[in-house]
Amino acid sequence: MVKIIRVAKPFVDEEEVQAVREVLLSGRYVSGPKVEEFEEKFADYIGVEHAVAVNSGTAALHIALASLGIGPGDEVVVPPLTFFSTVSAVLHQNAIPVFADIDAESFCLDPADFERKITENTKAIIPVHIFGNAAEMNEIVSIAEENDVTVIEDCAQAHGTEYKGRKVGSIGDAGCFSFYATKHMTTVEGGMITTDSDEIAEKARIIRNHGMIGRDQHVMLGYNYRMSEINAAIGLVQLKKLERLNELRIKNSLYLLEQIRERIEWVRVPEMKDYIKHTFFWCPVIVLEDKLGMKTMEIVKKLKENGIEVRYRYREPLYRQKVLLDLSPYPKGCPFRCGRKIDYRNVFLPNVEKIAGKIIGLPNHPGLSKEDLDYVLDVLERIGNERGV
Ligand SMILES: Cc1ncc(COP(=O)(O)O)c(C=O)c1O
Repeated sequence: MVKIIRVAKPFVDEEEVQAVREVLLSGRYVSGPKVEEFEEKFADYIGVEHAVAVNSGTAALHIALASLGIGPGDEVVVPPLTFFSTVSAVLHQNAIPVFADIDAESFCLDPADFERKITENTKAIIPVHIFGNAAEMNEIVSIAEENDVTVIEDCAQAHGTEYKGRKVGSIGDAGCFSFYATKHMTTVEGGMITTDSDEIAEKARIIRNHGMIGRDQHVMLGYNYRMSEINAAIGLVQLKKLERLNELRIKNSLYLLEQIRERIEWVRVPEMKDYIKHTFFWCPVIVLEDKLGMKTMEIVKKLKENGIEVRYRYREPLYRQKVLLDLSPYPKGCPFRCGRKIDYRNVFLPNVEKIAGKIIGLPNHPGLSKEDLDYVLDVLERIGNERGV
């Protein structure tokens, strides 16, 4: 029988079950003490004044943009190699996503291209700390400050990642986290906005709750983006486990990457910066298709035949998604057609084009043994040997 190695797995035990049970029996399900405690503890962990819990990472991004006043026609610089929420949140504010290229080693947004993409309409940037790495925040923040652009960190894949000693989510104007099932820590579904700004936090709290400041008093356009007590109770338990789970994730990933560097020529290991604590949501590597004479998709299939699941996502740059090519979010034209004319068919970003479709994420979750990791390495080595590489 083929051994099955999953690429991701939530780490939940009796403690989470007990926490959920307590909330269910308490009868208090919404806007209660668990959410408050989770917010306080998460803010402490990230090192910010405020954390605002919501029901997804997408909601966190949407609220952050709304709280910062990003609106119709405003341009927001985003990377094209990320989950689509980074972009859809911008569209939900009737703003315009403008794509900037990524760095070929970190896969995060390239600050130099961010600077080139700034126009008089640029109001925000969303650097994504992709795969658990960190974007070059010092450069991004300094360019943003010079140009009066706000910075919203997308930390959906980077719980605990550090940039020059600071946790991501504490560096820009706001940080947005996701607690979706496969993330470093989960609340099943959920999200969090982190910020040092009293004003952003206050607005975020109002927007997540229908724009309400009291019964029947709606002062802003809001949504139902609240986190439930059940999700918060799970989050509190998961937060206690996060550092330990991250250490295992990091250990597994560094072992895989070190061994690959020594043994497997058709896989390129990206360079890591010593001032970044990478938390490896993915253990990302690049397939050198020409060297192996095989397409990445075929390798993914071959690994699957051997029981090894890998992550293989973001294969197309997001500017080639149909929803953008058709300009369908704004069927009446504006704001894509008022002012600067936007046409995503003309976007071509060299690093993204070179890399998209060739990155795979190897299994690295905290539940894997050294034996499991060695099996993955052996199969990778065998694929190369079969082709004489
Ligand atoms: C980079 C990135 N941003 C945003 C999100 C959205 O988070 P959620 O799925 O919790 O809405 C995700 C989630 O998968 C993500 O990976």
